Amino acid sequence: MNIAANVGPALALEVADADSIAELRHQADRCTRCDLYRNATQIVFGEGPVKSEIVLVGEQPGDEEDLAGRPFVGPAGRLLDRCLEEAGLDRRRCYITNAVKHFKFTPRGKRRLHAKPNAGEIRRCAWWPGAELNVLQPKLVVALGASARYALLGPRVKLTPERGHILYPANRPPVLVTIHPSYLLRIRDKEDQRRDFVSDLHKAAEFRPPVKADSQP
Ligand code: URA
Repeated sequence: MNIAANVGPALALEVADADSIAELRHQADRCTRCDLYRNATQIVFGEGPVKSEIVLVGEQPGDEEDLAGRPFVGPAGRLLDRCLEEAGLDRRRCYITNAVKHFKFTPRGKRRLHAKPNAGEIRRCAWWPGAELNVLQPKLVVALGASARYALLGPRVKLTPERGHILYPANRPPVLVTIHPSYLLRIRDKEDQRRDFVSDLHKAAEFRPPVKADSQP
């Protein structure tokens, strides 16, 4: 088992209390834990089957997600869908959510340009993905990019050298560390990075939780 010494405590030491995703979503509709709710159209909560074995965590909703009220339906989501398919993972069997639930943007004329959530916003919002994981209890969580990594594993875990590795935070599901698909939309020579991303997702598809020593006969 790859237990990384540098996995910090979960950011959300306290999380929302609910027995179901429906109840959490209901509570989150009124979320004012940080200021991002003020300018966003709506909260974009996670979606997918509650029996999902794999949970994918992104950064925050983008412009299209903010309008649609659903995660990963814009350009990064379409690319993620193609990579998931290549990796043998069916999106319809995964729960997909974000570290931050409201769209943060800078207005530029008629456009709304993505703005990265800061550490304080990620910490305030970690309450929600923490609560989603408590309800879902997946076998594996995939951290897509830096904000998800920060929310799930704390500030000390870096992409290099952990990319493609599965880390085991205490009392939480294992987390596979990888890039965010929007990175692939930004870079020019993407073939190697895309292949590695699909390989990371394939690793998630193939993952079987390690058998605990005390559960062996
Ligand atoms: N990027 C994310 O991190 N999440 C989304 O839902 C869309 C784009």
